Amino acid sequence: MATTKKSPPPADDPALVAAFEARIAAGESIEPKDWMPERYRKQLTRMMAQHAHSEIVGMLPEGNWITRAPSLRRKLSLIAKVQDEAGHGLYIYCGTETLGVERDELVAQLHDGTAKYSSIFNYPTLSWADMGVIGWFVDGAAIVNQTVLAKASYGPYARAMVRICKEENFHKRQGYEICATLAKGTPSQRAMLQDAIDRFWWPSLMMFGPSDKDSPNSAELLKWRVKRKTNDELRQRFVNLTVPQAQAIGVTLPDPDLTYNPETKNWDFGEIDWDEFWQVVGGNGPCNKERLAARNAAHDEGAWVREAALAHAAKQRRGTEAA
Ligand code: 3HC
Repeated sequence: MATTKKSPPPADDPALVAAFEARIAAGESIEPKDWMPERYRKQLTRMMAQHAHSEIVGMLPEGNWITRAPSLRRKLSLIAKVQDEAGHGLYIYCGTETLGVERDELVAQLHDGTAKYSSIFNYPTLSWADMGVIGWFVDGAAIVNQTVLAKASYGPYARAMVRICKEENFHKRQGYEICATLAKGTPSQRAMLQDAIDRFWWPSLMMFGPSDKDSPNSAELLKWRVKRKTNDELRQRFVNLTVPQAQAIGVTLPDPDLTYNPETKNWDFGEIDWDEFWQVVGGNGPCNKERLAARNAAHDEGAWVREAALAHAAKQRRGTEAA
C-alpha cells in the first residue's frame, strides 16, 4: 500500500509546542530527532555556531606565542591548549550539524564576516604574560559559562560541555601558574603581568554578553533552559571567583570600584564600557580585521588538504562499491 510521506508538522503547532515545553519544564533532555520549535532550533544554531567560531578564532591570539614561549614546558602546554581549542570548535560544529545545519555554511559565514564570535579574541596579545592572563581570565570565564551550559536542555550541547570543561580546567590552571610565576619574578616580569591584567580584565567581563536588560536572547534561552543563568549572574560569579585569586598572587585588578559587599557576599564592580563592547562586537575592535584575514588565509591555504581528503574518501567509496 503506498504510504504518503508524512509532511513535517507545522513548526508552531500549539499542541506540539505545549508538549515540548512540558518536557523542558520536566528537565528532560531534547535530542536531535525530537520535535522542537523552529525558534528553539534557530537559537541553538546561533549560539552553538558562535561558540564554535569563538573556539577556532581563539586559537589565533595564543598561537601567536607558541614559537616565543620561554621554555619547552611552557611551549608544550600552550601547544596542547591551542590544539584543544581546535578540538572544541570541531566538537561544537558537530553539535550544530545535529540541528540540520551544514558546517561549510557556518564556516563561510565566519569567513565573510557575517557571523559573530567572542569579542575577547579581537584584542592583541602583546607579551608572554598575555598567555597567562588569557588562560586565567578567558578560560576561567569560559569555565563559569560552560559548566552551566553543561545543564542545557539540548543534549548534544550539554554533553559537549562536560568534555570541554575538563580541558578548560587545564587551560585555566596553566594560565594561572604562568601568572603566579611572573608575580614572583623580577620587577619587569611583575610589570609585564600587571600590564596584561590591565588590558584583559574588562574585555573578559564583556565575554558574558551585554547586561541582562540589554540581552534580547536571554529571556527565550532561559525559558527553554538553554541558558540556566543570566549574563549578569555569570559575570558576577566570575568576578567573585577571580578577585581572591588576584589577591593570592599580589596583583591588582584595574577597577577602583571593586568592593566586597558583605550583604550580597558579592564583589561589586565598576561600570563596563558598553560602547567599547558594541564596537568590538560590530567588527571594529583592535584585531577583528586581522583575525578574519588570518582565518580566510588559513582556509584557502588548507584547501588542498580538504580536496585530498575528499578525493581519498571518494576512492574508498568506489573501492567498496566495486568489491
Ligand atoms: N562577543 C561577541 N558577541 C556577543 C558577545 C561577545 N562576548 N556577547 C553577546 N554577543 C552578541 C550575541 O551573540 C547577540 O547577538 P546575535 O543575536 O546577533 O547573536 C547580542 O550580542 C546580544 O547578546 P545576548 O546576551 O542577547 O546573546 P546570548 O543570549 O546569546 O548571550 C553569550 C551571549 C553569553 C555569549 C551566549 O551566547 C553564550 O553563552 N554562548 C556560548 C558560550 C560562548 O560562546 N562562549 C564564547 C567564548 S569561547 C570560549 O570561551 C573559548 C575558550 O576556549 C576560551
